[in-house]
Amino acid sequence: HLLPIILCGGSGTRLWPLSRETYPKQFLALGGDGVSMLQDTATRLDGLSLSIPKRSPLVVCNSEHRFLAAQQLHEAGVGAARLILEPAGRNTAPALTLAAFAADPQAILLAMPADHIVTNAGKLHQAVEEAWPLARDGAMVTFGVVANRPETGYGYIKKSQAVDGTAAFAIQSFEEKPSLELAQAYIASGNYLWNSGLFMVRVDQWLKAMAALQPAMFQACRAAMELSSRDMDFTRPHGDSFSACPADSIDYAVMEHLPNDKRLGIAACVVPMDAGWSDLGAWDALWDILPRDAGGNAHVGQTLAIDTRDSLLFSETCLVATVGVDNLVVVETADAILVADKRKTQDVKKIVEALNAQK
Ligand code: GDD
Ligand code: MG
Repeated sequence: HLLPIILCGGSGTRLWPLSRETYPKQFLALGGDGVSMLQDTATRLDGLSLSIPKRSPLVVCNSEHRFLAAQQLHEAGVGAARLILEPAGRNTAPALTLAAFAADPQAILLAMPADHIVTNAGKLHQAVEEAWPLARDGAMVTFGVVANRPETGYGYIKKSQAVDGTAAFAIQSFEEKPSLELAQAYIASGNYLWNSGLFMVRVDQWLKAMAALQPAMFQACRAAMELSSRDMDFTRPHGDSFSACPADSIDYAVMEHLPNDKRLGIAACVVPMDAGWSDLGAWDALWDILPRDAGGNAHVGQTLAIDTRDSLLFSETCLVATVGVDNLVVVETADAILVADKRKTQDVKKIVEALNAQK
């Protein structure tokens, strides 16, 4: 069966001041439709072909957000979701490994980050259906998006030959978050796809890859789950064991090594996906998906833009007005205001780092 694993333990610092430690972006309804990103993610596979037996999702999040997550899942009508509660985040590789230890060894995991917008779920379903037989045969399947700008916040997949009789390509190499120079060269070459962050892999294959490539993480996660406790829908990995786990992402810890690791013998492939996908990572990405006025400005809340171009004006509690500026991001909330150059919104996380350093 297919077991969706929703990864929603990130802190979303690049969307400060809206996204906070106590209420990170995946719990916010940023699309303006009242549906949070977690809720969107948890219902995104609704309508998937009945030929793929699908279970309720397993949600991996920070223990602090357990009631928020559980309530949002309930409100979205997602029945029987189980939650694995991390005492502290160790990034996505350990998160997926905890989930793998909680799953049936023959289950096929579909790792789903909770910070994506997908405007065409049907196309995502199609890609998942194409990936299904490959993952069943033991491959690690990624989902690639046409790369159209030198974004440095994504992983880049270099595709090689087509996998016979399927829509997939073998992966020649995988590079997480390259420099701007490299990203520009990759875009120019036309041989690269963006890694969408969705991964499909059989449980035993994932655990085999982790045991070989990240033995310390593998052991820490195994111990944390062996000693885990359960109450209601919550599974709590053993705190001390999990705290000892090194932190790293699926991309750096596994994907950068897998395509060239002959001993493991796990095929890495990419299924192209054209599903109106975007990662709502930073403020410029929100500007990108919102409707815009004649001057190219996106507005949320009570705002007024005069002689203003290509800016995002976001107001929560009072009027935000601009004049004579361009490419700005202005975000007003009850207790903090952000003013940023729209081309530097990746650096908003530096504000959060500086604030944390002052604590
Ligand atoms: N449970 C748990 N624990 N979830 C986590 C943790 C953690 O410690 N850290 C991050 N997550 C969740 C986030 O909430 C998010 O939904 C997802 O995992 C991905 O993490 P990000 O931190 O947003 O990753 P990224 O966007 O920088 O990079 C990944 O996604 C890109 C596309 O969106 C990579 O896979 C890139 O290669 C990819 O291009
Ligand atoms: Mg992300």
